[in-house]
Amino acid sequence: MNTSTSPSLPIPPGHSTAPPLPRIAVLATGGTIAGSAPDAANTSGYQAGVVGVDQLLAAVPALSAVARIAPEQIASVDSKDMAMPLWTTLGQRIDTLLATDDVDGVVVTHGTDTLEETAYLLHLTVKSDKPVVLTAAMRPASALSADGPLNLLNAVTVAAHAAARGQGVLVAFNNRIHSARDVVKTSTYAVDAFQSPEIGALGWVQDGRVEFQRGVVRAHTLASEFTLDAAWPQVEIVTSYAGVSRIAIDALVAAGVRGIVVAGTGNGSIHQSLQQALADAALRGVAVVRSSRVGSGHVMRNGAAADDALGFVSAGSLNPYKARVLLMLALAAGHTAPAALQKVFDTY
Ligand code: SIN
Repeated sequence: MNTSTSPSLPIPPGHSTAPPLPRIAVLATGGTIAGSAPDAANTSGYQAGVVGVDQLLAAVPALSAVARIAPEQIASVDSKDMAMPLWTTLGQRIDTLLATDDVDGVVVTHGTDTLEETAYLLHLTVKSDKPVVLTAAMRPASALSADGPLNLLNAVTVAAHAAARGQGVLVAFNNRIHSARDVVKTSTYAVDAFQSPEIGALGWVQDGRVEFQRGVVRAHTLASEFTLDAAWPQVEIVTSYAGVSRIAIDALVAAGVRGIVVAGTGNGSIHQSLQQALADAALRGVAVVRSSRVGSGHVMRNGAAADDALGFVSAGSLNPYKARVLLMLALAAGHTAPAALQKVFDTY
């Protein structure tokens, strides 16, 4: 503590006593936020991931009042083409940056299409409690009323805010702050495309103000056992629907998949022909996880299938895409028995 009683020195012109702004790394991966169309009225026929990170930042002069930005171009992809090697590169780069005293938080710009998968993967694997915030846009950078610049400003504002620390990976989109575990894309075109069904957003960000209205309960980041250094096991998703056959399941088992997530109807119920095929797969050591195609709610263990007898695992409230992320990490970490996998799904 400074106990000096000497009179304070005059502040030279051009100098400030304000604490330095937080240092935020902005890692760009592509997406519509970095998209460009032939004309400003075009919001659907554009190329994603073509505008570089420096140009994205230059469109938001207000950032200089919020944080000291360190930009990096990690990739320039349409996120429909997101692949596991890029997940590994991104996650490892975030860990490296956050392990230094030079970076206080990270913002990732991403496509909206698979943002929820990347966000949940990072939520389970980043080894830091410093803020990591993903953002994106529904309209390309070239569009009238492009939503990317404000989303980027808000994401940096959240990442620079002390209250974002320890909340796991966050998604800042259309003024709302979502947990990576809960958030899903719910519209093909609207600028409020991201929602957290059932439980809602964690909080909001507007005009430089950040407010959290609830916390994150399930284990994440520093409390998560998962890492990105193992090989990715093959896990696929199948859907149950009227008249579905067992052809896809049998083909996946023959191809040697380690796990199958089924997007069931309702409470994770599965057409009888698919259920028999999945039970056969489970007997052969394939991990089978029951999720739901409904889009909100949860899947009760033994609720719509006799999980104990069939060797199935319930995904709880994770949608099929997030359940696949967790199943890959769990299998890579050596959890293979249904009981061990159920514990993983009950924890994360
Ligand atoms: C993408 O996901 O990269 C394209 C679509 C989008 O960002 O909205």
